[in-house]
Amino acid sequence: MESTPFFVAGRRTHGTDELTVHHPYDGRPVGRTTLATADQIETAVAAAAEVAATAAALPAYARAAALDHVSRRLAERAEEIATLITAENGKPVKWARAEVGRAVSTFRWGAEEARRFSGELQRLDTDPAATGRIALVRRVPKGPVLGITPFNFPLNLVAHKVAPALAVGAPIIVKPAPATPLTALLLGEILAETELPEGMFSVLPLPNERAAELVTDPRLPVVSFTGSGPVGAAIRRAAPEKHVTLELGGNAAVLICEDWSDHEDLTHAAQRIATFSNYQAGQSCIAVQRVYVHEWLYDGFLPRLVAAVRELRTGDPTDPLTDVGPLVSTDAARRIEAWVDEAVAAGATIETGGERDGATYPPTILSGVSKDAKVCAEEVFGPVLVVDRVENDTAGFAAINDSAYGLQAGVFTHRLDVAFAAARTLEVGGVIVGDVPSYRADQMPYGGVKGSGVGREGLRSAMDDYTTPRVTVLTGIQL
Ligand code: SIN
Repeated sequence: MESTPFFVAGRRTHGTDELTVHHPYDGRPVGRTTLATADQIETAVAAAAEVAATAAALPAYARAAALDHVSRRLAERAEEIATLITAENGKPVKWARAEVGRAVSTFRWGAEEARRFSGELQRLDTDPAATGRIALVRRVPKGPVLGITPFNFPLNLVAHKVAPALAVGAPIIVKPAPATPLTALLLGEILAETELPEGMFSVLPLPNERAAELVTDPRLPVVSFTGSGPVGAAIRRAAPEKHVTLELGGNAAVLICEDWSDHEDLTHAAQRIATFSNYQAGQSCIAVQRVYVHEWLYDGFLPRLVAAVRELRTGDPTDPLTDVGPLVSTDAARRIEAWVDEAVAAGATIETGGERDGATYPPTILSGVSKDAKVCAEEVFGPVLVVDRVENDTAGFAAINDSAYGLQAGVFTHRLDVAFAAARTLEVGGVIVGDVPSYRADQMPYGGVKGSGVGREGLRSAMDDYTTPRVTVLTGIQL
């Protein structure tokens, strides 16, 4: 098996220490790469700093052309990339294909936003003393970006760091998750086909402990991190003077409101919840974890949910019919098993699921769970649902808000007043009405409040995040 090169300042290279990537389903090696050395890290950072001014001055057509190229090549190589994602991450190939499709769109949106990103004209003659003055407010890159990306979307969450950086003309260094570096390296291969100036991107496989040297390097003034809360907090502490975007975890909740009472409505909600608590084995920050059901619908809803979850096919992620594959590792599956066991020991009932098989944990529903149990209060990041009844919609909103996290929430209602009450009341970054919290369109602002992080992704939001306003005041101009 050949070692996959990584990218330092846009050039293919190899390090000295080996990193072998294993298939989470059966443990077989699926690829090899090497870890960047200290010298290679220095070359990447120095090149990013050196090219920053050139990058910021790149015309929109050049930035958009690079982004369009990446989008097109991802589409052309979609099946190969989906196969690679499944191999290193273990997500079922149907979800890997969906991820590639999203990344195609993320880069396409990056190109479109790059063309649109113009700033604004502000009139200043609102004051007699400023007659004849106008302001041009443009946004300029803060500087090179460090993108630290997670294993759960090894392509599209890398795309969400890279595309907005290129769109604004900021160099970027990506540190992919050690479990899933190969997809990011394939993206590097496509980036290397573009006309971007040298130094504009690097992809550096590194163990997590070695990310600290990049986080504190003053030549990388922006850090965009997706991952766990404790690591996010450590990054903020380590780099208080930097602009830090944190996309952290969640224990996403959904509410079945009083009016969502037709048989078809309940069956539809059960199917959506079953699918999106278990897609990629629950390893998404917005996978459904907590389900609150109006009490008069609960007894009719629970059997539907159990039936929908039991219909999911668990198994080999390379099989196109598989719905639920393994967790990223056996250790991850063991942690979930321990959390479920702990909840059951405290009185919870397993409605379905609950038997680990290696790295695979079956889709599981728990009822009667104490709200302090880890499976409810913490981020499970696995195929486990906690279901509970609530007295009314208001109590449902309160239950959703009773969390240390606030990323997205889903509210099944047909009523506009309830939808607006949810949007007003829920302490989250996004409320999805009529569907699960797992819905994300890549162009929309995405991020959380409370323990779920700070800052927003979504092309335009991330472009704002990576840039700072610069005002040019012109004198002697009549509008
Ligand atoms: C995440 O896990 O935060 C990303 C979810 C998504 O992009 O759908």
